[in-house]
Amino acid sequence: MDQQIRLEVIIGSVREGRVGSAVASWFAERAREQKEFDVGLLDLADHELSDRLSANPPRATREALAEITPRLAAADAFVVVTPEYNHSYPAALKTAIDWHHEEWQGKPVGLVSYGGLSGGLRAAEHLRQVFAELSATTVRNTVSFHRSSARDHGPWDDFGDAGDQDAATAARVLLDELGWWALALRDARAARPYPA
Ligand SMILES: Cc1cc2nc3c(=O)[nH]c(=O)nc-3n(C[C@H](O)[C@H](O)[C@H](O)COP(=O)(O)O)c2cc1C
Repeated sequence: MDQQIRLEVIIGSVREGRVGSAVASWFAERAREQKEFDVGLLDLADHELSDRLSANPPRATREALAEITPRLAAADAFVVVTPEYNHSYPAALKTAIDWHHEEWQGKPVGLVSYGGLSGGLRAAEHLRQVFAELSATTVRNTVSFHRSSARDHGPWDDFGDAGDQDAATAARVLLDELGWWALALRDARAARPYPA
């Protein structure tokens, strides 16, 4: 259907032994259950983005950007899956955000967070400030997993699966809201360019 929403789910952790890929896969599956979404999973660990933001980046960064940038540009909406590191989000995620600008503009961003007792909520709230600067709209509803580290829960595969109804409900609420914004903002971007 031409109303299908292209959604990129971004895995914010690149840490070895991370929980993040399981969280993001779980969320992407929930999104795929809603047929209006065409879902991609963008794993920052698959790419080597230099944090120097150089005008002449090294080859690995050029190759990474050649893959990441068109995917961000083509997306109607994003979901950022972030852990909390020292009360904020990971540096690799900030680097990926900072390499881009208009790719985020006038688009909605959903936040899925996880961490210790706080469920990554401080990381999620910091991301709202960053995306506001990029003229992206973070949506109100979030999904958060508390005490979700591998140490607390063992293999994450067993946690937050379809049996966790609270998480599944939160994901559906987030996706409903994200879908509304994605269609509204896609129409708005088509009607008139975002002001420079
Ligand atoms: C460097 C570092 C700092 C952390 N700081 C916090 C923190 O401030 N608050 C918190 O709730 N959890 C914190 N944690 C726990 C992580 O949020 C938790 O282990 C999470 O599963 C990490 O995500 P990942 O496995 O996908 O990388 C921290 C973990 C690391 C590695």
